[in-house]
Amino acid sequence: MSAPRIFRPGATIGIVGGGQLGRMSAMAAARLGFHVHILTPETNSPAAEVARGVTLGAYDDEAALRDFAAHVDVVTFEFENVSATGLALLESLRPVRPGRAILETSQDRIAEKTRLAELGAATAPWRPARDAAELDAAIAALGFPLILKTTRLGYDGKGQFPLPDAAAFAALDIAAPPWPLIAEGYVDFDREISVMVARGIDGTVRCFDATQNIHRNGILDLSLAPAPVAPELARAAQDLAARVAEGLELVGLMGVEMFVTADGGLLVNEIAPRPHNSGHWTMDACLADQFEMHVRAVAGLPLPPAMRHGDAVMKNLIGPDDMALCDAILASPGQALHLYGKAEARPGRKMGHVTIRFPFGALPGEAGISAALGPLARQRES
Ligand SMILES: Nc1ncnc2c1ncn2[C@@H]1O[C@H](COP(=O)(O)OP(=O)(O)O)[C@@H](O)[C@H]1O
Ligand SMILES: [Mg+2]
Repeated sequence: MSAPRIFRPGATIGIVGGGQLGRMSAMAAARLGFHVHILTPETNSPAAEVARGVTLGAYDDEAALRDFAAHVDVVTFEFENVSATGLALLESLRPVRPGRAILETSQDRIAEKTRLAELGAATAPWRPARDAAELDAAIAALGFPLILKTTRLGYDGKGQFPLPDAAAFAALDIAAPPWPLIAEGYVDFDREISVMVARGIDGTVRCFDATQNIHRNGILDLSLAPAPVAPELARAAQDLAARVAEGLELVGLMGVEMFVTADGGLLVNEIAPRPHNSGHWTMDACLADQFEMHVRAVAGLPLPPAMRHGDAVMKNLIGPDDMALCDAILASPGQALHLYGKAEARPGRKMGHVTIRFPFGALPGEAGISAALGPLARQRES
């Protein structure tokens, strides 16, 4: 096999997907002197606004995929749910990083958990529940409480059905759920953390510090960096993320979500082979952030150490209520505002985020974080 190609500044990076992750990747690419071309079905997408060009079309539209490929040197993703035939077509036209295998693994929760088990990464106990008979068997094996999830296309807690007990199962309309599903034993976790891991074409692996993630209404609300956990646990989380990245032969950047159990164990929840919401803090607290690391890995450039120069709290701005706080955020020194340029602030929609940076080693506890959040903290309580 020929050596993987390296793309230098001046080349065009193609990003599949037009959302905020594509937007921030495009901005990082531009800073390194790359051009960016976006594929998205959405007019006025956040990413296209900051890119050189855009192909408007569906992710499985052959003509759109061909037009997109013709404009770019290398292809990457901010949206990973491209069909298998779409991926195969792209792969036949241009280098695709990360590659098809890892994308297909992350698209399907059953494939993902199967692969993680092969790599020796522990997960919540799970069973496939692709139909009613498998669901019965899964419940017999796992017991209650458990969570049913759609195997594909879930995000921000969508497509999930918690079953705390037999009564909840009895109330479930067995004909209605969007089969196929996966059943997962409910993990009574201590906290949720994540690690952003980048891997280059030469196999170099770089892990950012582990982050603690706090969700609200199924959507990421706050990330704390570094995760306030024992150094050994933080290191083990990075080692686990690196092992998964190597096992999947990642070229690019991947977010690895994990549960910390009461006994200090680590269970992998899910992987996302692209920049991840819980890595946004790196934009304000690292020399090279997750988006630059992503761009460098995709282009085949050297990966710098994932060096953090400060502690940080990242707060997502969701929907119209959080957007109403923008003036207050802009008037708060020390709050770095990132908006995604979305015209309409629908409830539950990620509109932007705010980072509050602290000196290295000075991440405060809960009260200090609330104080630093100011008006944003009051928003959390409502
Ligand atoms: N097996 C589980 N046990 C307990 N909580 C879970 C489990 N699976 C998911 N959750 C909770 O639901 C959130 C969203 O689930 P996740 O599988 O990450 O889906 P999504 O693709 O929507 O992010 C998780 O961050 C966690 O808070
Ligand atoms: Mg998740």
